[in-house]
Amino acid sequence: MRDSVTCTISGVDPRGRGRLELDGHLVHVARALPGDVVRVRARPRRDDDPETLATLERAGESPARRSPGCEAFPRCGGCLWQDVEPAAQRRWKSAMVRRVLSERAGYTLPEDPPITASPDAGHRTRVLLRVHVAGGRLRAGLFARGGRELVALRRCEAAAPAINAALAELHALDVRGLPDHRVRLALATAPAPGSGQREHVRALVTPATKPAAPALALAERMRRAGLFATVDTRAADATPQPCDAQDGATFFAAPGMFEQTNRAANRALRAAVRRRVDALAPARVLDLHCGNGNLSLLLHGARGRAVDGVDTSPQAIAAARLGLASIGAPAERYQLRSAARARSPSCARSRPAPWSPCCSTRRARGPEPDRHAGESALARLAALRPRHALYVSCDPQSLADDLARLRRAAGYELAGLELFDLFPHTPHVETLAWLRAPGAPGAR
Ligand SMILES: C[S@@+](CC[C@H](N)C(=O)[O-])C[C@H]1O[C@@H](n2cnc3c(N)ncnc32)[C@H](O)[C@@H]1O
Repeated sequence: MRDSVTCTISGVDPRGRGRLELDGHLVHVARALPGDVVRVRARPRRDDDPETLATLERAGESPARRSPGCEAFPRCGGCLWQDVEPAAQRRWKSAMVRRVLSERAGYTLPEDPPITASPDAGHRTRVLLRVHVAGGRLRAGLFARGGRELVALRRCEAAAPAINAALAELHALDVRGLPDHRVRLALATAPAPGSGQREHVRALVTPATKPAAPALALAERMRRAGLFATVDTRAADATPQPCDAQDGATFFAAPGMFEQTNRAANRALRAAVRRRVDALAPARVLDLHCGNGNLSLLLHGARGRAVDGVDTSPQAIAAARLGLASIGAPAERYQLRSAARARSPSCARSRPAPWSPCCSTRRARGPEPDRHAGESALARLAALRPRHALYVSCDPQSLADDLARLRRAAGYELAGLELFDLFPHTPHVETLAWLRAPGAPGAR
């Protein structure tokens, strides 16, 4: 490859880097956007990132750039794309997913898949903040881009108003007398108990430095100051509380357990899952990674349909069962069990399970009971052979790889795709894919 070359970025890769084809090579350019004209120079190949080129200068600006929607940009590591028009972000994500499916799974989609927008600010209803206490002062915020230095935030444009109100109060908390220490502060909002009231914010404080005692003392001060509706210090102790309500069902979650971070876009995702299932009109549904029932709670009861779910998190199953109680469905529909041992749901009709949603967690971080959760779900799906499968994924690359594997292992073909902009101002995107087993009929 030539030493230095000027070129126009044509797309983004799943990590948000600009990408282009050069001399028959696919290359990725950090901090470049589609439409940017950049002079780049190849740098020595690195095993973990063999194709990235060093940017020497930007010779032309992408027309999608805007003045950043946030004061902390670009220092803060929370949002990579605060300086990009939201509509362009969505176009790029949609094109990226189409290309990843083509390159990794051989699917040629006729056009970029549709993407449902989210509010562009105040959309994050769950955040993980970093809190540093030093010299009797408290600073809270997010890690800097590409590092672990704290960027203190008085407010976060992406966060829900209730989280920002709590953040402002947090900075005023009296921490005099506490030794220097650091904590992780997971905050999640819950709908206001009454109209005109502020949304609840629930907190989980976990130590990021040893010993743990100062973190416990800090949590106690937060409690006494009434900063949050609840303050827990052990995820396992936090009891699930209502976190959302939609179409007659109440959803429950506890701080620290998995919960989508964008309530508005998550509601659109749930509604889309229900539309797909209603169109397929199955007698049985099996949710292989049901969590708190987020994707399947709205599916119960329609036309005598049997809906079951499994998850390996006791807290998630406790939350899912509270959700079942909210719609008057029996608790045993959601079971504490690995996807690897999920059984086909029982129901009055005798035909085999015609539909099963499956959620990939292959890229899940943190302590997972099964690091290869996605693998076991895929194997189980191929073994149960439902006629239709829905697959919800936050990682287009693992989605594409899994679709290719499901096609090889059991003949499943991709029947359609819809995207949801759950993570505005970042390259991340949530995908709902629906798959058809060989010989299965289409939707009604
Ligand atoms: C990303 S969350 C999705 C939860 C839910 N579908 C939602 O939309 O909120 C993934 C879930 O998979 C669960 N999980 C991980 N490994 C599993 C396994 N082997 N079998 C079943 N569930 C598993 C986790 O406990 C977690 O609740």
